[in-house]
Amino acid sequence: MAEPSKPSPELITAMRSTVAALAGRFIVFEGPDGSGKSTQFRRLSDLAAACNIEHVLVREPGGTLTGEQIRTTLLDKANTGMSVRCEMLLYMASRAELVSAVIAPALRAGKLVLADRFVSSTLAYQGTAGGLPAADIAAVARVATGNLMPELIMLFDLDQTAAATRLSPLLDRMEAKGAAFHALVRKGYLDQARQDPGRYAVVDASRTEEQVWAELCALLQQRAPHLPERRTFS
Ligand code: TMP
Repeated sequence: MAEPSKPSPELITAMRSTVAALAGRFIVFEGPDGSGKSTQFRRLSDLAAACNIEHVLVREPGGTLTGEQIRTTLLDKANTGMSVRCEMLLYMASRAELVSAVIAPALRAGKLVLADRFVSSTLAYQGTAGGLPAADIAAVARVATGNLMPELIMLFDLDQTAAATRLSPLLDRMEAKGAAFHALVRKGYLDQARQDPGRYAVVDASRTEEQVWAELCALLQQRAPHLPERRTFS
């Protein structure tokens, strides 16, 4: 994939106060596999750097030594028979490490934390698509994260047919779960966004990278001044 272009001086000027308002905030990028969220994630990181906003990037599963080992297990196609309950707990175990070792210290230090996936992924993949009750996932998430919730979740929405065309042919264990599973993942995300519109912002990810980036910037300009308070976390 081509490197995303560096932010222009005009964009930096237009976005400087918006990005400054994100300092100390926890923002999560979510979406189905192939939605292009990781490209947009890197572009926002480049913009934050150009605006001199201290920020930390994390991705799930992974981001710590233990978390990367859990990631390997979760995505390894050899683990064909893994139960969805085990899968959910492994994602949460990786998340627990990431919150305590990286996310919480960065937020306490007033840094912007940008995360590529968080609890919404578990609700969509292991919940709506995998069949686990959302209340069970929420209960485990409270333990794993110490009640940490992002103030803003950017959801990159794309139907599973378009998303599948953007994936490398070497599918990992999760990507290989099939079209019906991935249609449910998308539904799960959209249901979450409908239930909590103050926390979620939905981006139409079916368009070109530049169009998606323009919508992301516009949404951040709208939302940054009105982010909800972060609840305290233990
Ligand atoms: P990635 O490819 O975006 O890094 O994510 C790894 C895969 O793991 C992706 O298919 C989504 C899936 N996933 C879950 O099923 N549950 C979760 O809680 C997380 C964080 C990811």
